[in-house]
Order: sequence, then structure tokens, then C-alpha cells
Amino acid sequence: MNQPVTSRQAAQAPDYVRHQRLIDWVARMAALTQPKAIYWCDGSQQEYDRLCQQLVDAGTFKKLDPVKRPNSFLACSDPSDVARVEDRTFICSKTRDAAGPTNHWMEPAEMRAILETSDKALFKGAMRGRTMYVVPFSMGPLGSPIAHIGVELSDSPYVAVNMRTMTRMGKAALEVLGEDGEFVPCMHTVGKPLAEGEQDVAWPCNNTKYIVHYPETREIWSYGSGYGGNALLGKKCFALRIASTMGKDQGWLAEHMLILGVTNPAGKKYHVAAAFPSACGKTNFAMLIPPKELGNWKVTTIGDDIAWIKPGADGRLYAINPEAGYFGVAPGTNEQTNPNCMASLDHSVIFTNVALTDDGDVWWEGMTDTPPAHVIDWQGKDWTPEIAKQTGAKAAHPNARFTVSAINNPALDDAWDDARGVAIDAFIFGGRRSTTVPLVTEARNWVEGVYMAATMGSETTAAAAGQQGVVRRDPFAMLPFMGYNMSDYFQHWLNLGARLQKQGATLPRIYCVNWFRKGADGKFVWPGYGDNARVLKWMLERVDGTGQGVENIFGTSPRYDDLSWDGLPFSREQFASVIGIDKAAWQQELKLHDDLFAQLAQRLPTELKDTKARLAERLATV
Ligand code: OXD
Ligand code: MN
Repeated sequence: MNQPVTSRQAAQAPDYVRHQRLIDWVARMAALTQPKAIYWCDGSQQEYDRLCQQLVDAGTFKKLDPVKRPNSFLACSDPSDVARVEDRTFICSKTRDAAGPTNHWMEPAEMRAILETSDKALFKGAMRGRTMYVVPFSMGPLGSPIAHIGVELSDSPYVAVNMRTMTRMGKAALEVLGEDGEFVPCMHTVGKPLAEGEQDVAWPCNNTKYIVHYPETREIWSYGSGYGGNALLGKKCFALRIASTMGKDQGWLAEHMLILGVTNPAGKKYHVAAAFPSACGKTNFAMLIPPKELGNWKVTTIGDDIAWIKPGADGRLYAINPEAGYFGVAPGTNEQTNPNCMASLDHSVIFTNVALTDDGDVWWEGMTDTPPAHVIDWQGKDWTPEIAKQTGAKAAHPNARFTVSAINNPALDDAWDDARGVAIDAFIFGGRRSTTVPLVTEARNWVEGVYMAATMGSETTAAAAGQQGVVRRDPFAMLPFMGYNMSDYFQHWLNLGARLQKQGATLPRIYCVNWFRKGADGKFVWPGYGDNARVLKWMLERVDGTGQGVENIFGTSPRYDDLSWDGLPFSREQFASVIGIDKAAWQQELKLHDDLFAQLAQRLPTELKDTKARLAERLATV
């Protein structure tokens, strides 16, 4: 008689795996999705190299020239699978109110029927003919009290190798998990099972896509896409949507923020966390090189996209970067806009949807002033500057990405892997606005800072599928990444500030910035990039109590003479055009705040409504 199969056998778990709940879950998911094999990732270099070679053999990866771009690969996706799919992203909390009006919601049982339980459930048999990769990972430094563990099951080896770069992945994460630790289960399939003998395609995916979160049970289920935030589930799905819910319940913050170390010429170090919507230059800001004329200011990177922030025993807010790598937008990145990033991309990079040059390297729009005479574009077609002129074809997709380890970054902060995190001195919130919003404003207090962040607007970019360049409200740059009701999230920020203030803590200052105002010629007025350090310097002088400014209706902004201009020809008129407040534009803007507040009315904190009313009164008097 056959022995009953144990769940360890069914999950094909190696001996070193000691966590029974994890083994049971893998066994259950294997029974549901029916992969042809199960492979537990150990996170080693040998494993990474082997999987990359396998991806080359399968046609998903092209190996780049080993001299020009050592240990690097190019993947080109299916043209239909190039960005996050916000309209297919669901927060399946028990009630619609818990997800709030800014999220797509479905009742959990209804969603589970679609994905798991009905006869035609999408995950049933979804991995047939493929290997299921078991990818254990830590979001945050291994063992940090601010970090959390996840395990992704994916039938995409592309996901497995990207996860190794983007997280602390493999055996080490399982060691932290031990026998009974908590982990967030992350189910992922590209949704393209293979029949016996069926030839695979280079980028399997499915036209049907579901990116699903169950906040109460802290689960993620992703179907149909192999791209970025849809598939690397540690990033947007766990570190933002699920973690924001964990943060609300446990008293901390999961934010769409980069984290910087800034050292002034006297050697004093500050830490700043900054929220900007997708593709608004977070990676550039996180790696900026201050102009040398400013004196000896130094900027170092802790994170470029996500911050987990917990109050410490001293009442200060401590932040870690939960990620271990950068999944950045390639187009526009060059030696001028981000030299540290270009240096990071020297070797050991996975590029996705950029162009392949004739000498086995990569190229994207904006990488060099003069484009190469010929490349193979991201869709595998011949591309020349002439073709581009005639047809508008892009060599690289506008949302083309690089995946690279943080340790490649020459500006990496010494504390980037510090389990204690770094104490935050200032929060910055910024959108992409060609008009209306001034270069920089310091909020008078926490509540007004929360108001600024809550009402932030930004012009949409290629990071998400859909129309580009339209202004949408993007509170805290979290609109696509909120795991619960946006109004409750505002309240959570207000509560956290009030609680820490009651304990006598000094809260970080809050700033609102806009690098993107345009002049009458349609060009950006502010030079941005490294020169953003001038604004950073002013903020940190304010934190120290030495920076000067002038009060306006929103808070405090610098006058021309309050910023340092050494090495930058920037006239008073130009400054006036980026700092000024146009009454008519702001009356219009406040109407848009009203629209947002009407949408969120049900649970909107009274403090924000009161702040809005005071703002409108002040505006009326100018
Ligand atoms: C990202 C995004 O990929 O915000 O970081 O879209
Ligand atoms: Mn992002």
C-alpha cells in the first residue's frame, strides 16, 4: 500500500526548512496550481547564475557584452505587459469601507472564488508544465525589529532572480523565520500553464490580470503579469499595500518614500525621507550629488522607493529601506541627471524593455545626447534615429527598468543595512506640477504638513498603464499603493504625530516641494537634479533653527537670499516664478482639494477640513 505523502514531501521542502506552516502552505498551493516541479531558492550566487543562464536558454534574457556590461542581461516583455495595472489591483478587505473610495474592492469570498475556489478558478492548474519557485525574503535588514518576512511562490524564474536583487532572499530569510515566525504569503503566476510538449514563449503572461490583496489575512495573490510591481510582490504589494495595513494596526508607517543621509560641511548628519509619485525622480534625488560650490555637502542613499518607519523608544521616527536593490526607470537616466546611478549600472544588472545596441550593450532615450545609429528596440524591431523621427517609435519603453543591487551604488549610506534604521529629521512631499505649487514650503506644524501631503497632486507618468500627463490627486504619493481607507490613513498620520508630541518628542519637519514648474516657453525653470541640494540645505538649516524664510498662506518659504546660489546662475525673476503663489491658480487648486475631500468625506479627519477652511480664509485675504 502507498504511504500517505507528507506535506514536506508534497512541498518538496529541503531538510533545512523547519517552518511547518510554510511547508503546509507550499504543499497546498502546489496542489492548487499543479507545477511540474518545486524549487526552493537558497539565494546563493550559484543559483542566481544558473537561473540567469536558464533564462538565456529560454530566450527571456539576452546576455550583454561581458566587457561592456559584465554579468548583465536584457529582458524584453510582452508588449501588453509593461507597467503596473492599477485598474486590475484590488484591496479585498471584509468591507468596502475598509478599502475606501480610492481602491478597487471586491468581497473576499467573491475574489477567492475567481482565483482559488470555483471550478474555473484561475489559479487551478495555473502552473502546469512550469516550476514553482519558493522565494523566501526579508523586507528590511535581516532580523531588524522594523523588518518583516514574506514568501513568494512564483512560476517565473525572472521573478526569482529579480527578487534576489530586490530583497534579502533565500536561506538567510528562512533562518530569521525559524520554526514559527510570521510571514506574508505571496502567490504569483504568470497565468500561462503549458500543455504537454507545448513550446514556451519568451515572456509568458495572460491578458487577464488580477493583483489582489487581502489586508485582514495579509495575503497577496497576483495573476497574469510578469512585470515589476505586478510580479515582484515584495515591493508595492507587500512593502506598501499590505505593510500600510500592518502599520495602521501596529502603530507604524509604510511609505512610498526614498531615504537620504545628508552630511553638512561641519560633518553633522541628517536623515530625510521624501515621497514622490512614480517616475518623478525619486531615484535621482536619492543619489544626488550636491554642486561643489555649495561647500562640502554629501548625500548618501539609504533607499530610493520605500520606507518603513517605526517610532523608537526615544519618540523619534526610525526608518529602514525594506528593499535591497533598485528597480528604477531607465529612460532619462544619464551621466548628467544621475551619475551615481550610471555607475551603479556598470555591471550585474537586469535591464527590462530597454534597447539592445549592435555591440551587445543597452541604450535608452536620454542616455546619450547622440543616439546610436541603429539598435534593436524593446519590441525586437530595428530602430534608427530616422525611424524614430518618422514614426515616433521609442527604442526603450518609457517605463523600461533596471534591477540592480544597492551595493552597486557608489553613494550608498553606511547605515543602509543597519537593523536599527535611521532617525528621520524631515519629510518631503512633492508632485510633478507644471504650475501652481511653489518650489518649497515648510509646514507650520504636523497637521498642516499632513494636509499638504494629503492634498498633493501630480501629473501621471508611464509607470502605470493609462493616460499620461493629467493631474490627479495622489495623497502622500500613495494613491496606487494604499492598503486601506485613505481617510483612515490620514487619521493614522495625525494620531501618530499627536501621540509622539504628547510624549514630548520633536517631530520631523514637513516640506512640500515642486521641481517641475514650467515657464512660458514650456521648459522647466528650476534646474533640479544636483541643484535640489540647495533646497535640501535650506530645509536642514530650518531643522537646526538657522534657516530664514517668510511666512505665506501655506507655511514658510525661502526668499531669494535665503538660498545659496554659488555656482548657479538663477535670477531673482526666475526664483520668483518658481516660488510665487498665484491667487487664481490656488483658488482653482483648492476646488480640487474640495473634490478630493468630497470623495473621501465619509471618514475624513475634521482637522483636515478645519485646515482647509483656514487656508481658504487666508487665501481670500491676499
Ligand atoms: C515603482 C513605481 O516602480 O512607483 O517604484 O511605480
Ligand atoms: Mn515607486
